[in-house]
Parts: sequence; structure tokens; C-alpha cells
Amino acid sequence: MIGLHNSVIRSTGCSVPSRVVPNEWFTNYVDTSDEWIRSRTGIRERRFVGPGESSATLGVTAAKLALESSDLHPEDIDLIICATVTPENMCPQNAAVIHAALGCRPIPAFDLSAACTGFLYAMSIADQFLKTGAARHVLIVGSDVLSRTLDFTDRNSCILFGDGAGAAILSASPQRERGVHSVKIYADGGPRELIHVPGLVTPQPPADQKQHEHIRLNGREVFKFAVRRMIELTTDAILECRLAGRSIDLLIPHQVNQRIIDAALESTGFPSDRVMVNLEKYGNTSAASVPIALDEALKTGRAKPGDTLLLVAFGGGLTWGSAIVTL
Ligand SMILES: CC(C)(COP(=O)(O)OP(=O)(O)OC[C@H]1O[C@@H](n2cnc3c(N)ncnc32)[C@H](O)[C@@H]1OP(=O)(O)O)[C@@H](O)C(=O)NCCC(=O)NCCS
Repeated sequence: MIGLHNSVIRSTGCSVPSRVVPNEWFTNYVDTSDEWIRSRTGIRERRFVGPGESSATLGVTAAKLALESSDLHPEDIDLIICATVTPENMCPQNAAVIHAALGCRPIPAFDLSAACTGFLYAMSIADQFLKTGAARHVLIVGSDVLSRTLDFTDRNSCILFGDGAGAAILSASPQRERGVHSVKIYADGGPRELIHVPGLVTPQPPADQKQHEHIRLNGREVFKFAVRRMIELTTDAILECRLAGRSIDLLIPHQVNQRIIDAALESTGFPSDRVMVNLEKYGNTSAASVPIALDEALKTGRAKPGDTLLLVAFGGGLTWGSAIVTL
């Protein structure tokens, strides 16, 4: 590491649609209740995009807010990565829309697809560009609008998701104590069908149009996978921090289900008062979930300069990952 830079989180931003959808709304479509959704997931409401909004428009707003909160100008950005499984278009990529909206000079700008772990995949790539000196400032965005893929006749899935975008600017820094200490990302394509979001380009015309159009998931199996991975990632990070003489001040997990978080906390013994949870307001916003919670933690003072954060995510692919970062 001697001679290499460290990458620090310089600023963050987030954007959610203005339309609030409370749990009660779903009783118009499926046999469910506010009580069931709150007690089984912790979610009270979520945001859904309206006409003219997309993962690209939400991503642009989140990116602009992150840029405004930094002391940088658009021409300072060296790389843009947008994590999304619901891009506005397959081409041009969301990152190109964000690039144009910010008015950056010609730089690399691309999307990546790693579902709910996408923001940590983007952070891993940004970290490597920054540590090797290939970039000085990287804008990473997680943005998804899974409401556009929901089947409002499937009560197992339609109540879980919301729309949003979160962004962060990471900068190279000579400081060794601050910044990204480690980012770990994983995938296992074996059980990939546990979470399926259909694409626009398929190998053959779908036999069942309905199956083709909507997100499908095996909630019970994903629940078990999520608890297992969150326990592994948290245990691993606690050990890594202990060896480095650090302690974790705040855990920011993927915001999917309060019961998943509680089960992992119980198993690892990590204190619940050091966990950032806002899923009651937004549901599962996929790649936006961790950066929205990160932005809220910073804006509300839950996370302060000098704090060490553990970010943990898991989701479709299947993918999972974690990052240990000192602010
Ligand atoms: C989906 C999830 C909330 C279901 O909770 P659960 O406790 O596992 O519930 P189960 O799947 O065991 O279902 C229990 C019962 O509730 C029913 N149920 C499911 N959704 C319901 C709803 N919205 N309202 C009322 N009842 C519902 C089921 O049909 C089932 O009924 P049955 O016993 O008569 O078959 C939970 O498994 C979960 O959060 N999974 C992960 C979500 C996910 O995949 N996220 C995306 C990737 S990170």
C-alpha cells in the first residue's frame, strides 16, 4: 500500500420520488394488511415513481446533490458508475444520462448490474481506480425503480419494494486512517432463479407473458440466504476490525426486512443501537438501499467524521458484499 492513495467518502446525496405508497394501498389489489406487512417486514410505506421519472432521473438528482455537497466541479469527476437492474434504457446507459446532466468532460461512465449489492460493487471498482491513481474523484450511484416490474396480483413480492437513488463521491486521499479499508464482493450464480427480474432482450419469445414481465422471487429461500450472508459478512468484518484495532460505530445493512437484520444481530451479538435502519419509510430500494441509508445517517448525524462504518448488502444474482469505511 506504500505510495498508493486511500479512497475516502467525500460527499453523498439521495433522491426518492414524492409519491408515498402506504401499506394500506395494497389491500386494493391483494389479500394483505398493514399489520401483516409491518410485522413480517417492518415496512410502513415506500415511494413509487410517477410519469416522467426513472432510475436515470432519480440518479441524476442524487448525483447533483452529492456534487453540491462536495467542493468539486463537474470537470473534477474522473469516472461515473451507476449500479442498477432497472436502467431507463439498455443503451444509453444511466451513467451516460448522469454524465450529460452534470456536464462532465469525456470520462468513463458505465452501468453495472449486481442487484441490491450493486452499490458495493461500484464502491469496489471506484476504490481500485482511486488506490492505483487512475482516478482522483469517482461518482458512484445506486438507482432502481423496481415498482415498474411489480406484479400487483402477487402479494409475496409486490409489498416489498420501493424506488430511489443514492450517490456518493469517493476521492483519493493520502490519509491512511480515513477511507475505505476493505470492500469484499461475491456472487454465486447457482441459485440465480431465486430472484428474477426480466430483461428486454430474451433468448426466445416468452411462453408466459406474465412470467416474463414481472419480478419473481422465492421470498422464503431468499430470507434464509440473506440472514446467512449477513451473519458471515458481519462476523468477518468484526474480526477484521478487531485485528486492525478498530471498532464498528455504525452498521448500515441492505434495507430489506427488519427480521433479517434482527436475526443477524442476534447471531453475531452486534448491538442493535448501532444499526442504521430506515426500511420502514422506503421498503427495499435495491441498489439504492445502502446509499440512501448512508446519506440519511450522515445528514442526521447518526454517522460522524471519524466513525467507522460497516456497509453490508445481499441480493439477486445471487450477490453479496461488505465494506469497512472510516469517515
Ligand atoms: C417475503 C417475506 C416478507 C415473507 O415472509 P415469511 O415470513 O417468509 O412468510 P412466508 O413466505 O413463510 O409466508 C407465510 C404466509 O404468509 C403469506 N403471505 C405472503 N405475503 C403476504 C402478504 N403480503 N400479506 C399477507 N400474507 C402474505 C404467504 O402466502 C404464506 O401463507 P401460507 O402459509 O398460507 O402459504 C420474507 O420471506 C422476505 O422478506 N424474504 C426476502 C425478500 C426478498 O426476496 N427480497 C429481495 C432480495 S434482497
